[in-house]
Amino acid sequence: MEISKLSPAFSCISFLVLYIFFYTITPTFSASLQDKFIKCLHRNKNVDFPLENTFFTPQRNASIFIEVLESTAQNQRYLTKSMPKPSFIFKPVHESQVQASIICSKKLGIHLRVRSGGHDYEGVSYVSQIETPFILIDLSKLRQIHVDIEDNVACVQAGATIGELYYRIAEKSKIHGFPAGAFPSLGIGGHITGGAYGSLMRKYGLAADNVLDAKIVDANGKLLDRTAMGEDLFWAIRGGSGGSFGIILSWKIKLVPVPETLTVFTVTKTLEQDARFKILSKWQRVADKLVEELFLRVFFTIAGNNSTKTVTMSYIGQFLGEKDTLMKIMEKDFPELGLTQEDCIEMSWIESIVYNSGFPTDPPSSTEILLQAKSPIGKVYFKAKSDFAREPIPVLGLKGMLKKFLEEDAALMIWTPYGGKMDKIPESEIPFPHRNGTLFMIQYYRNWSDSDKRSNSHIKWIRELYSYMTPYVSSNPRQAYVNYRDLDLGRNKNNSKVNFIEAKIWGAKYFKDNFNRLVKIKTKIDPENFFRHEQSIPPLCLS
Ligand SMILES: Cc1cc2nc3c(=O)[nH]c(=O)nc-3n(C[C@H](O)[C@H](O)[C@H](O)COP(=O)(O)OP(=O)(O)OC[C@H]3O[C@@H](n4cnc5c(N)ncnc54)[C@H](O)[C@@H]3O)c2cc1C
Ligand SMILES: *[C@@H]1O[C@H](CO)[C@@H](O)[C@H](O)[C@H]1NC(C)=O
Ligand SMILES: *[C@@H]1O[C@H](CO)[C@@H](O)[C@H](O)[C@H]1NC(C)=O
Ligand SMILES: *[C@@H]1O[C@H](CO)[C@@H](O)[C@H](O)[C@H]1NC(C)=O
Ligand SMILES: *[C@@H]1O[C@H](CO)[C@@H](O)[C@H](O)[C@H]1NC(C)=O
Ligand SMILES: *[C@@H]1O[C@H](CO)[C@@H](O)[C@H](O)[C@H]1NC(C)=O
Ligand SMILES: *[C@@H]1O[C@H](CO)[C@@H](O)[C@H](O)[C@H]1NC(C)=O
Repeated sequence: MEISKLSPAFSCISFLVLYIFFYTITPTFSASLQDKFIKCLHRNKNVDFPLENTFFTPQRNASIFIEVLESTAQNQRYLTKSMPKPSFIFKPVHESQVQASIICSKKLGIHLRVRSGGHDYEGVSYVSQIETPFILIDLSKLRQIHVDIEDNVACVQAGATIGELYYRIAEKSKIHGFPAGAFPSLGIGGHITGGAYGSLMRKYGLAADNVLDAKIVDANGKLLDRTAMGEDLFWAIRGGSGGSFGIILSWKIKLVPVPETLTVFTVTKTLEQDARFKILSKWQRVADKLVEELFLRVFFTIAGNNSTKTVTMSYIGQFLGEKDTLMKIMEKDFPELGLTQEDCIEMSWIESIVYNSGFPTDPPSSTEILLQAKSPIGKVYFKAKSDFAREPIPVLGLKGMLKKFLEEDAALMIWTPYGGKMDKIPESEIPFPHRNGTLFMIQYYRNWSDSDKRSNSHIKWIRELYSYMTPYVSSNPRQAYVNYRDLDLGRNKNNSKVNFIEAKIWGAKYFKDNFNRLVKIKTKIDPENFFRHEQSIPPLCLS
């Protein structure tokens, strides 16, 4: 490791020195690391807590340790034997313990990862592939939710799930909602800081567009609210993605109005039923221009097998209003889909959350299921990627895309319409830049089970599909959604090699020009890069 090899303008020279220092003392870390950490916590905050329920090490009880590690981890690819494991897991029960954790991990020179809901697509909240040892601060015990209907706000701790938040809002009001993701087990902490979209997006924007205040602990262990952190940092954490700026303890969010009755529907067409892509082409032309109250996605899946194999396209819609109004809109703007009264189901907003969540709909699951904090699809191995379309994909492109799609036995692709409120928010309002001119977002997703030994071929396939799509999607940069983290786009190699020029390649895909401002803010508030992972925002090194 020679300093002279690194470009002086962009390499973290001070970091390199730090790295060597920690690296040489690494062998002294062992089972006693936890003891040192606990001692340090006591010294710093004089905090009192039951160790049994807050500290988990492989030495004390390996099976419980693994259970806790895996409890909320969504992607099995990052739980295999070969993946590095944290030295211990700490679950703070008080916010001051998060402050003390930062101070102590800094003091002991041990790398820290933070997890709220564990849905990170590349597992960076619970696996460090670039440096060991590391510890895991798991916020799942910090999950209080306070809903204030009179003031239209809620305060939510980072470890709560989005399903719990929705449930607590609906418990108090039938006409209030919040525009975040569809999947109930998503963690408030990681989800909102990456943007967070859902079926209210075309009407109200992202969850990050509806944040009023936040509490965060910075790299010095200081607890800051919006006033104390200042507008730069407050801008960065609303979409700049987790694990770069500090540990978010809670969000104060603005609730939005929803009607008492809304309408959902699913209309499924097979490839044969839309052989000339009349319906899919029309969807591409109208989906972003429909009234803001209507959110109409397309889910592509594979049905049948061998010679009977086909693609099914499910048009899954949600309308903020009653059935009759929806029917009129669809007859006028999208008659090709052939929506009928019988396809439409009227329900409350909270019931629509359950309908869209992946939990069983026949018979409908009760809304209490949202409190389970368990993922509706269970444990899967998966790889996913994202794209943004700014022009309709022509029929020739659709044909090739579905031909490639059909090479697998099972796969999922989701097209999510933009437009509406998303067009009206300026690109630099928050770090999330995918705004005016975006027709729809594409997510490619392949999951498989434990017994399937062809992981590599599934990953190869999804990369080929992504490559096939190149001419049809955004370019310069080819945009991607940071909450659908994709390490194929690039990664920070390790501490000694944080390089702004390299990072900008993936940074611009997620954030366009906002990446530069994120780097500036990072440099100001965490110049030593304490909060870091495979795709964290790097600081510029001012040596
Ligand atoms: C099945 C599934 C469905 C999804 N559906 C949607 C959807 O409908 N809409 C959507 O927008 N996204 C969706 N996502 C993506 C999701 O928004 C991201 O994975 C998000 O990062 C999850 O947040 P988390 O807290 O659960 O994840 P974690 O894995 O806990 O965290 C993600 C990242 O944020 C960091 N982080 C976690 N907590 C904090 C904190 N308190 N402070 C600072 N940094 C923190 C972590 O270190 C990591 O870098 C989905 C993901 C999955 C797996
Ligand atoms: C670990 O915990 C499990 C569950 O509580 C218990 O059954 C087991 O005996 C423990 N093992 C050890 C080695 O303490
Ligand atoms: C194969 O397709 C048939 C007909 O669609 C279906 O009934 C069967 O379950 C499928 N088998 C597998 C293994 O997917
Ligand atoms: C599909 O074809 C493969 C090999 O061609 C065969 O092994 C498999 O059993 C077939 N599946 C079904 C459900 O017919
Ligand atoms: C969005 O872009 C279009 C085309 O470039 C432009 O005509 C329109 O004014 C823009 N809308 C907003 C709200 O910026
Ligand atoms: C993949 O995910 C879908 C839901 O999107 C689920 O129905 C299916 O069972 C999963 N497949 C595996 C192999 O886990
Ligand atoms: C970090 O990168 C340098 C240069 O590529 C390499 O020599 C070193 O081994 C890496 N360290 C780790 C822990 O991967």
